[in-house]
Amino acid sequence: MRLNYIHLFCFLLLSLVSSAQVRKTLDFNKDWKFLLGNDSLAYEEKHDDSKWRKLNLPHDWSIESDFKKDAPATNQGGSLPGGIGWYRKTFFVPAADSFRSHRIDFDGVYRNSEVWINGHYLGKRPNGFVSFSYELTKFLQYGKKNVIAVKVDNSHQPDSRYYTGSGIYRDVKLVSGRSFQFIQHSSFITIPQIPNDRAAFHAVTRIRYAKNTNNDIIVECEIYDPSGRKVEKFTAGNNGVSLPDEFSFAGSIPDPKRWSVEQPYLYKARFRVYVAAILMDEEEISFGIRSIGFDGQGRFTLNEQPLFLKGVCLHHDLGALGAVYNNEAAKRQLRILKEMGCNAIRVSHNPPAADFLDLCDKMGFLVMDEAFDTWNKKKNKFDYHIDFKEWHKADLEAMVLRDRNHPSVFMWSIGNEIRNQFDSSGTTIAKELVEIVKDLDPTRPVTCALTETNPEKNFIYQSNALDVLGFNYKDYDYAALPKRFPGQKFLATETASALETRGVYQFPADLKRIWPADYKEQDTFARGNADYTCAAYDNTHAYWGNTHEKSWLAVKNNKHMAGLFVWSGFDYLGEPLPYPAYPARSSYYGIVDLAGFPKDIYYMYQSEWSEKSVLHLFPHWNWQKGDTVDVWVYYNNADEVELYLNGKSLGIKRKTDSSLHISWRVPFVSGTLRAISRKSSKILQVREMRTTGAATRIELVSDKKGIRADGRDMAFITVRLLDKGGNLVSHLDKLLNFTISGAGIIDGTDNGYPADSVSLKSTRRKTWKGLALGMVKSNGKKGNITLRVSAEGLAPAFITLKATD
Ligand code: GAL
Repeated sequence: MRLNYIHLFCFLLLSLVSSAQVRKTLDFNKDWKFLLGNDSLAYEEKHDDSKWRKLNLPHDWSIESDFKKDAPATNQGGSLPGGIGWYRKTFFVPAADSFRSHRIDFDGVYRNSEVWINGHYLGKRPNGFVSFSYELTKFLQYGKKNVIAVKVDNSHQPDSRYYTGSGIYRDVKLVSGRSFQFIQHSSFITIPQIPNDRAAFHAVTRIRYAKNTNNDIIVECEIYDPSGRKVEKFTAGNNGVSLPDEFSFAGSIPDPKRWSVEQPYLYKARFRVYVAAILMDEEEISFGIRSIGFDGQGRFTLNEQPLFLKGVCLHHDLGALGAVYNNEAAKRQLRILKEMGCNAIRVSHNPPAADFLDLCDKMGFLVMDEAFDTWNKKKNKFDYHIDFKEWHKADLEAMVLRDRNHPSVFMWSIGNEIRNQFDSSGTTIAKELVEIVKDLDPTRPVTCALTETNPEKNFIYQSNALDVLGFNYKDYDYAALPKRFPGQKFLATETASALETRGVYQFPADLKRIWPADYKEQDTFARGNADYTCAAYDNTHAYWGNTHEKSWLAVKNNKHMAGLFVWSGFDYLGEPLPYPAYPARSSYYGIVDLAGFPKDIYYMYQSEWSEKSVLHLFPHWNWQKGDTVDVWVYYNNADEVELYLNGKSLGIKRKTDSSLHISWRVPFVSGTLRAISRKSSKILQVREMRTTGAATRIELVSDKKGIRADGRDMAFITVRLLDKGGNLVSHLDKLLNFTISGAGIIDGTDNGYPADSVSLKSTRRKTWKGLALGMVKSNGKKGNITLRVSAEGLAPAFITLKATD
């Protein structure tokens, strides 16, 4: 009897201890010290960092700077500085944790990071976009303080064709657990088939065995459906004899709810490993039940149904946040794109933040995950070509291992416009890279985004290693592709490179502008406007690209193209073609501007890509007497559109197959311009533009009523200048002054103008065509946050948000 009590006590104690010992993942972003500059002794444990700046990660020091005319990164890199920076964090590890194993995970550090723990060198990672980890266990001091030091060297410039940011710009986590644990990223779930009522399920996982491992190992894998109900449990073990390399599970899941872009159902697999019935480690992985493929006509299929890929390319920066990853800012971008009808993202030209893929899983986007912008042939003096030889395998593996469980990821890309396409090195390297990918994930197709459409000259395609051929631009060659590359699958990996500034209109609208006209003009101010703008009429493009309309029509009319990725979804920092120098410092390619305000072209895509009824009328109606104004309309779901000026009809127009907009040439008379779309003679939608007076008030509109008081959640507040009739005043911009009180901070302001030389962190910002943006976060505390925006001659406007738990 007594013995039984002792047994029971020991069992309870063991279960308590064991549950406290399984994996813990700590957000490790808070309370770092930062030094901008080099201090070669800063890796030492006892180094004095008391005078360093205190900050929370993620952090990008480049975006904090003013734009600079002579920035070594040039305006291609965003006219912002690189340099060297150091980060240090002091943290306490309890003595009781001395038997635990500890690892630090970095989601992204740009660039050439080196890490030390208590003065011990852990390693370096030149690539600024991949995730990496270090084991800390044997260097930690238990029951004492520990210091992690990170050196970031982004001093060799230029090292990129676009803005990169500098610093620890994505999340850091500290993961602790028992030394007997699942090997990081070894768990891999696949759904080999989905017959009607049950989905075939397959998973593997690997274990890092501790010394003296008791041989009696059980690994469990429980499946939870999208409503959180446990629907299946698989078990594997070693029968107490061996230590297998891998545990695998095979079976099926009943009544599968398939992941799709419309209904992105997510399942969860919870893996647990026990030794002698004691829980050692557990991890949860979300996955989707979906099948991907291509049909006999070269169409992409999702769940066996053809799905046209209506995609955009996105760089990693988030406007005024620079490279700092913020989930709310990314969510806002995706929301805007979803509304447009976009269903796919190409993360150009590097793996994104891990959380970005979670968002795509949840919001229903397909993702082309891309590894490199260069292999071993350079595009810039100090770019990744320097590190390719030594690091490409580790970097490519890091991408695939981290991202292969995401249902959103439907294709891997091993590169963008790789120079090696032009010689035989392309064949060898492509084969090697594809093999690296396929070894880790045989379930997804691999592509490469290239420009050479002649099979004899494209050595990467000659490798025959790619599942899908990706073509950037040259839409005039689409029709010839099936003949040139028989039996292959095709995707327009990049289209358009059309140039627009939101709210800028020049006449005549149908005058085509090719800026630059050829490669010789690329570094000159041979073309362009004096105020560094490009008209928003979709009439301007780089010589290698085409207008949005023409590019889209080319893909749409060539049914063998599985889809497209427009360059680009949003404007981004750097690459401000056609302007080769400061003050132009961010791109003109976006369908949406840097501040997140859609350009007119957004509605062309929305009218073609979404089911929503669209009627978009532009430009504004503030012109001079004598001006002849081109009025354009994008519409859908209607038979015709009639335009009226001050109540008088200017005629009815309809789209043709070769033009996706309708237009009227109108002598300007002030008043009201009205467009009416009709379907079967019934009015479907009405839009108006009115001649406005000067602004009489400032309007603030927040995308949220409240935010979480975590220092990360963010509200995006649109500032609009309105006249007394409540119309947007887009021709008389004003300098705004942003101030904040209560529990908040302003994390950036913007107006979307690519040549605004005022820092994106400034609280003074001029509106651009009547609009500006304020980005507000909590300061980490709960309470009310009030943003005040003022401008000379106008009453200040206020908006209050609540920061709560
Ligand atoms: C492409 C390139 C993109 C971007 C774009 C601008 O050639 O792949 O990264 O530079 O041109 O037009």
